[in-house]
This record gives sequence, structure tokens and C-alpha cells, in this order.
Amino acid sequence: MMGDPIEYLFLAARAAQANAHAPYSGFKVGAAIRCEDGSIHAGCNVENAAYPVGTCAEAGAIAAMVAGGQQEIIDIVVIGSGDKPCFPCGACRQRIFEFSGPRTRVHLRANGGIESFTIGDLLPHAFGPATLA
Ligand code: THU
Repeated sequence: MMGDPIEYLFLAARAAQANAHAPYSGFKVGAAIRCEDGSIHAGCNVENAAYPVGTCAEAGAIAAMVAGGQQEIIDIVVIGSGDKPCFPCGACRQRIFEFSGPRTRVHLRANGGIESFTIGDLLPHAFGPATLA
């Protein structure tokens, strides 16, 4: 793959965002995941007239990743409408945590550049598989 893999991930997230179904909020979100094997899995938010049934972009990207046979997020990019950084919602932090490892990073556009976070930054003291073990 040519160029910066994170910039490429932003392009994949942008392409998915363009297909978002967000007629109720008007807020389109795109997410893209890169895995160890180099595969990329993208998702967008898919809203529903029955509002709570709607799903987040990260959920779509994670579902695509799992369906594609991967279980660990190396990098995930999230982009929303407008210029502000689109931090994952609380539920999506939990979804990302489920498929995270020591190398997992969450990348957002902020302040004219890219800001990167660990899932521990975003969801400290998480409830996860280790809690159940
Ligand atoms: N949304 C996402 O897709 N991901 C997030 O992490 C935050 C929120 C979507 C849900 C809804 O369709 C719209 O953004 C407004 O909340």
C-alpha cells in the first residue's frame, strides 16, 4: 500500500461516511479499522425511524472486521460531520475495547492534524473479558 496507512484509513472512513444513513440527526459518521493482516474494514452510522435501533459507524466497522475473520483492532479512525473531533460514544468505546490489544490506537482529526489515543485513554478501568475470567 502506498503512503501513510493512517491517512489511507481516513480515506476509507471518509468513503464510508459518504454512505451513512443519517436522515434524523444529519450527523454522518465514518469509521475504518486496520488489522494486523493489513485488511481494512469500514462502517458508517445507519439510523432508523425507530431511533434506538440505529447503529454507530464503529459498530458497523467492527461487525465487518469480525465477519472478515479478524478479531484485533490495530488502528481505528473515526470521523464525524464538521470540524470537531468525533470521539467514539461510550458504547463504542466498549465495543472497541472488546477487540483491542496493546497496540490499538484510536485516531481522530483534531486541530488541523491527527490525534491518537489508546483505548485506556478513552475508557479507563474498563469492564472486559478479563473481568469475567
Ligand atoms: N454516532 C456514531 O456513529 N458513532 C459515535 O461514536 C457517536 C455517534 C452516530 C449515531 C447517530 O447516528 C449520530 O452519530 C448522532 O448521534
